[in-house]
Amino acid sequence: MKKIDPCTLVLFGASGNLSRIKLMPGLFKLHKLGRLSDGMKILSVGRGEMSRAAWHAEIKGMMDAKYRDGYDHEAFAQFLERNHYHANPPTNPDAFKKMAATLGDEKVFPQNLAYFLSVRPSDFAEVVEKLSGVGLLDESKYWRRVLVEKPFGTDLATAQDLQAKLTKHLKESQIYRIDHYLGKAAVQNAMLFRFTNSIFEAFWNKDYIDHVQITNNEILGVGERTTFYDATGALRDMFQSHLLQTLAMVSMEKPADLKPENVRAAKIKLLQSIRPIDAKNINKQAFRAQYAAGRVCVGDGHGENVPGYQDELKRDNMPPSNTETYAAVKLFIDNPRWQGVPFYVRTGKRMHEGNTAISIRFKKAPMMLTEHQHHNWLIVNIQPRECLKFEIESKVPSLDVKTRTMSIDLAQRVAGDDSVDSYETLLLNLMEGDPSQFLHIDEVEAQWKLVDPIVKAWAEDKGPVHQYRAGHRDPEESSIIFESQDQFWRYSIELGGDKH
Ligand SMILES: NC(=O)c1ccc[n+]([C@@H]2O[C@H](COP(=O)([O-])OP(=O)(O)OC[C@H]3O[C@@H](n4cnc5c(N)ncnc54)[C@H](OP(=O)(O)O)[C@@H]3O)[C@@H](O)[C@H]2O)c1
Repeated sequence: MKKIDPCTLVLFGASGNLSRIKLMPGLFKLHKLGRLSDGMKILSVGRGEMSRAAWHAEIKGMMDAKYRDGYDHEAFAQFLERNHYHANPPTNPDAFKKMAATLGDEKVFPQNLAYFLSVRPSDFAEVVEKLSGVGLLDESKYWRRVLVEKPFGTDLATAQDLQAKLTKHLKESQIYRIDHYLGKAAVQNAMLFRFTNSIFEAFWNKDYIDHVQITNNEILGVGERTTFYDATGALRDMFQSHLLQTLAMVSMEKPADLKPENVRAAKIKLLQSIRPIDAKNINKQAFRAQYAAGRVCVGDGHGENVPGYQDELKRDNMPPSNTETYAAVKLFIDNPRWQGVPFYVRTGKRMHEGNTAISIRFKKAPMMLTEHQHHNWLIVNIQPRECLKFEIESKVPSLDVKTRTMSIDLAQRVAGDDSVDSYETLLLNLMEGDPSQFLHIDEVEAQWKLVDPIVKAWAEDKGPVHQYRAGHRDPEESSIIFESQDQFWRYSIELGGDKH
């Protein structure tokens, strides 16, 4: 267990959705587990005036909603003692001065300050500037860290602009850019299982691996979030950070050790060696589509008719648009380990199943006994089930020589394991001063450099966007990005991984 200095967590946007669902419940859990330092305090900041008692009642409402089966009320009463509220009305020019005066009370608030900016991305730079203006980022006596929520820019230019604004007041070491995927135990395992098991390293390369698929498919559609989604699209929402980070975790070179600087250096090197897609190759390497009306499977196994994306835009009085709800991209990594191995990265809404996985297909076996003999696959399943699955061919016990696919299925979660939300991990890392699961600016820039040309080409292409029926598998036309005809999309963790 790492030591955490006494500190104050200053939570901007504490009344917001993210805070209600993840941050406050996560902080309470860390408190209960004894992972917060003794004197640690939480100062929630919001635009509205509110008494401390009223804020405590708000927090209780968040816990009641999150932990419906009940929670430890004695521990919760102690947790409330850590919690304070500060009103920061935008109309008050002295609001940040008042905040500095409040935080300056050393008897109440430890002076190491961690700011969590759970506010609109357009507010990140202004909050940092104002904090700096009243001396609240000054590290001459105590550490000061700023966690910025996603997204960090909407393209390379805006990311660089935000970076320039932040670094007027902050050193790189003070900035914690979040990608909550990196807090997921199963994503961290995508890197660690390779380096903690000697059996994998020998075949983790172009000589044995045919291709890799990184998948994030959802049954959910865009729902009420049409305004946000239509301005964003699948590529920027999922691919730009979550999926490229997952790709980096599974393909990076071994860092010298797990020190934050070494893990990040290995990831940066990998991301910078992904070959950008040339404008002339976009249509061969990237495919987009939108869901049309269809029928999806809901939790209890029943079907539900759902509208298409264009219907949802119309419902919300928005004009038709070409924004993609499905994106599939083929990437190559230009380094000796991965030369020539395609990495297929795909994400879609309103698909037939919800699944996040890394699927690795190995090259043809040295002996193919039948035409239908399957390739070996290794699947690192992240959601819904965390497991590692190895598919191997084995002789069917019979008089004939034929094989079938058997699988070694290693659940990564065993009875009694705690389930840790990624925000709990990341909040703890912020207070510990461990940036390894946060993005360095070089990673963010490398990711935008890969995404920008595709976004640009798709924005310029005004032709009709391919439609796929909600509740179905990948549009067949997406197979245009495959390198060879025997490659196909891998689904879930069905045995055999055959075409369906
Ligand atoms: N929700 C998620 O699951 C999720 C996922 C990924 C990333 N994020 C990121 O996390 C951050 C917070 O998300 P959220 O869903 O919690 O946002 P939210 O609920 O819309 O808002 C967060 C807070 O921002 C303040 N705010 C809202 N509208 C404002 C306005 N017009 N002017 C000034 N302040 C305003 C409000 O605080 P006060 O009224 O108290 O000042 C609100 O509590 C965003 O950067 C988002 O991109 C969220």
